[in-house]
Amino acid sequence: MTHAPVPTQTRRRVLPAGENGSLWEARPSCGIFEFRGMRLRLTVEDPAEVLFPTDCGLSLIAALNADLVPDLAGVNALDIGAGSGLYSVALLAAGAERVTALDINPASATQTAVNVMANGLDSTRLTCVTSPLEEYTPDERFDLVITNPPHLPYDPSYARKDGLETALVARRGGRAVYDSVVERVDTLLAPGGTLLMAHSSLADIPRTVTELTRGGFEAETLEVFEMDIPLLAYAEHKETMLTLLRERRAEGRAEFDGARFTVHALMFRRPGNATGS
Ligand SMILES: C[S@@+](CC[C@H](N)C(=O)[O-])C[C@H]1O[C@@H](n2cnc3c(N)ncnc32)[C@H](O)[C@@H]1O
Repeated sequence: MTHAPVPTQTRRRVLPAGENGSLWEARPSCGIFEFRGMRLRLTVEDPAEVLFPTDCGLSLIAALNADLVPDLAGVNALDIGAGSGLYSVALLAAGAERVTALDINPASATQTAVNVMANGLDSTRLTCVTSPLEEYTPDERFDLVITNPPHLPYDPSYARKDGLETALVARRGGRAVYDSVVERVDTLLAPGGTLLMAHSSLADIPRTVTELTRGGFEAETLEVFEMDIPLLAYAEHKETMLTLLRERRAEGRAEFDGARFTVHALMFRRPGNATGS
């Protein structure tokens, strides 16, 4: 497959190596983050069931914070793989008219609703849906779709069968949810809509960019974040996972250097009918 070049980025943040590198002010069961001038709070009751947001997810928030694109006021948004509701909370706080928080994990709905209410946001503007993306058939299309898919390769030797695994690990070498987003984008996104994605360099960014640009989207890299590969939850199986990742890197389907990888905050829009900005 011929890959389109990954768009060049304007800024690159290098987060410190080791476990202290984080964009959070506080962690792990409660975090405070700033989004467009607001201080927002996220809690996770059981981090084995619902992922406590990592720097990978938070990077997209940080990129949107800096660039103020797109305008979020009044949008009808879909948060795919909502987890604890990080993006749903941020979008509602920034004035989204409605947010649908979709997750395969039933524990996500409760945690997202709790976090929306804890931030004093209007929970009547939130709809939580428990469903795999692959089976989700909304009766409307959205102005904005935002997602931070699982990005680590699955292997039966380290299967945990809990919410943390669902959040971090995916079939097809970690690409399963990225592939579903690409396949379903036209069903989900209204004409002129915007797709925002925190895309891991472990899961073949050029492939996603190529497929979406082939579908008529223009890709913009808002920011690139360099950080440690989040292997803490897989400490015992670190070598197995790194071996899988090295195989994928040898095939040109993953990029990382030692224990460091990058997360690209990507924005996709079709030229000529873009909204926001
Ligand atoms: C990396 S986490 C992101 C959570 C949150 N958006 C964040 O950034 O902190 C990925 C989320 O996708 C969900 N997920 C995994 N596979 C899914 C699928 N096929 N359909 C819908 N959600 C899925 C997981 O349960 C998890 O909550």
